[in-house]
Amino acid sequence: MFWLLLLASYLIGSVPTALIVGKLVFGVDIRDHGSKNPGATNTLRVLGKKSAIFVLIIDLAKGALATYLPIHFHLNAEPLYFGLMAVVGHCFPIFAGFRGGKAIATTAGALLMANLPLLIIAYVTFFLVIFLSKYVFFGSISVGLSMLVYAFISPSLELELIFLLFSLFLIFLHRSNIRNFILGIEPKINDKNLIND
Ligand code: G3P
Repeated sequence: MFWLLLLASYLIGSVPTALIVGKLVFGVDIRDHGSKNPGATNTLRVLGKKSAIFVLIIDLAKGALATYLPIHFHLNAEPLYFGLMAVVGHCFPIFAGFRGGKAIATTAGALLMANLPLLIIAYVTFFLVIFLSKYVFFGSISVGLSMLVYAFISPSLELELIFLLFSLFLIFLHRSNIRNFILGIEPKINDKNLIND
């Protein structure tokens, strides 16, 4: 059951929401536009607000659903393993040539089911950092850093390792944003690249 649910979590995470919206509604591959990242931020940049909200909700739901699976089936396993698998699926989706997003919404969904206090701390920080810096990726990296700090105060070695993995993975996924920022070409939150303009 454990492995079956891990596989199911990966498959749930692999549903490429931004790619589907881009292709079905606008006839474009979002990975050819803006930052080329199939996530809510780039959807906002390229496809607009309504599409971005939809992508955000579905990507968040993927993390929440995967994390809820072991709870639903009364499995004696840490639910965050399954959330992490959904995150891996979102970033390396089998349904989209393994070219996925950066999992900030899917991570929020996982925390919604498994650790509400950390969700609140990490995502209040996320919005605050974006508000102050105007860069979404700084907010995203702050989510990774919140998880890193949480790893050190976690009550068990298992949770410490899970949060360490989450944290390093999220920060690693934003390496192109860090490089673009250093080069001075990273877009701010209000910089649009709308295909309909
Ligand atoms: O969570 C994704 C965000 O941090 C960066 O997205 O499209 O600017 O690479 P993007």
